[in-house]
Amino acid sequence: MSPMTRPLTSKFSLNDLRAARKNGTKVPMLTCYDFTTARLMQEAGVPALLVGDSAANVVFGHDTTLPVSLPLMMELAAAVRRGAPSAFVVADMPFGSYHGSVAKGVKNVCRMVQLSGCDCVKIEVAASHGRLVRELADAGVAVMAHMGLRPQTVGLLGGYKSQGRTADSAEAIVELSMKMERAGAAALLLEAVPPEVSQRVVEQTELPVIGCGAGPACHGHVIVTQDGLGMTTHRPRFVPDLGDVAAKLKEAFSLYVERIATGEYPAPEHQYQMPADEKAKFLAGSEF
Ligand code: KIV
Repeated sequence: MSPMTRPLTSKFSLNDLRAARKNGTKVPMLTCYDFTTARLMQEAGVPALLVGDSAANVVFGHDTTLPVSLPLMMELAAAVRRGAPSAFVVADMPFGSYHGSVAKGVKNVCRMVQLSGCDCVKIEVAASHGRLVRELADAGVAVMAHMGLRPQTVGLLGGYKSQGRTADSAEAIVELSMKMERAGAAALLLEAVPPEVSQRVVEQTELPVIGCGAGPACHGHVIVTQDGLGMTTHRPRFVPDLGDVAAKLKEAFSLYVERIATGEYPAPEHQYQMPADEKAKFLAGSEF
């Protein structure tokens, strides 16, 4: 274990996120989609994990986040929950699961919370989601309202572009954040907006604000883990370089290929042995 590694030893909760906002401690958050990685992240002391619908891209190879279903997202979130019981686990509600009617949205969010054990759900919000957020808050669900670039609206956006780059659109994001706070959102997430916009949101609301390419004023920061580890084909400009894990993995995979090709694997230590007497009986029997 490196000297910097401090495993999460107690549960990180919404209150810890709120406290971070007050005391200025920045909260690291990473996307996570499976049990094994969640366990490693908890051991490395990552307090908050986002089971993002970016799983559609990095796990399933789709071009957009739209194809992942609610049952699939629930399975992924439940796996992450099992791997990191102490982390604050935020589950993304996938495209189509909270649209159409408030009642349908509430039902699907409650299924997600009950079946995955997540601490919070994230939804990509427009002004019309105020009623849904209110109903969920009344039901006791912590909602993270995702604003700025909303990948689920790619159909209308016509591509992934940073948001809030004109005074009007920046103002609209700030207005929306205040509306979400009034509706009862527990936290905000700002994706791909200029730092001035997140600074204003931080000033105008009292909620913890997580940034994803949203500058330093945010109370916490999230990235798609695979981008930071060099495992995707393109690292967005706001993502830090956390090492070339792809190179390490490829090295390990080719080592495996080589060891099998040379016969170095499997060696005696990789084989299951029979007790000597059983082995003798078996080998004698095979002579008939
Ligand atoms: O799905 C996801 O990973 C996200 C982050 C990019 C914020 O929503």
